[in-house]
Amino acid sequence: MSTRRSAAIAAVLLGAAPAGCEEPLQPVSEAPTLLAEAGDYTQWARPKNRAERQPVVAPHGGFVDIYINDVVVADQAMVLPEGLPAWSDEAMVVLAGHDAMEGGSLVQVAVMQKRGGVWAWEQYDGSSDEPRFSGRPDVCVGCHSAGEDFIRSFRLPDPPPEE
Ligand code: HEC
Repeated sequence: MSTRRSAAIAAVLLGAAPAGCEEPLQPVSEAPTLLAEAGDYTQWARPKNRAERQPVVAPHGGFVDIYINDVVVADQAMVLPEGLPAWSDEAMVVLAGHDAMEGGSLVQVAVMQKRGGVWAWEQYDGSSDEPRFSGRPDVCVGCHSAGEDFIRSFRLPDPPPEE
């Protein structure tokens, strides 16, 4: 065993600095953006009422595609006596705003992700990887508080219909 390696092991056994402390420090990596976490969201499912792009009156580009991750898909499938009161943790919704109903350019991407019961938000212009807004911007939360659990384009599952 090399002296260097045994020294590193000894350091660990003694509860001193971790092995590998002689290596250059890794740069502290920044938390990935929600968009990076989402990856290729265009492969995700869409809410039932939003299978197609739709013109909208919202500050999100004129023509909007909505994508939902598998947590939202599973939530939407739930049939509970009282309905579902809120979306589950790790729920993620991505909005892709375009300037035309067919084709067109991507003019905006907006992302919501629920963690610890709280939504985190991001918004991008169509071309940049740098969010224009991120975190819990008042502007997003304020308008979205009008939706069921802050979602504006689709609803929480209802209770089953009465027999
Ligand atoms: C003035 C109101 C308003 C503001 C401000 C606003 N939104 Fe929205 N947003 C909407 C509406 C309305 C929809 C639904 C559009 C549709 O039907 O496709 C929506 C949809 C979304 C969606 C798709 C999920 C959903 O709720 O339907 C995301 C993600 C989103 N917005 C993110 C954001 C972010 C991030 C911000 C802040 C930077 C923001 N929004 C600010 C009104 C707003």
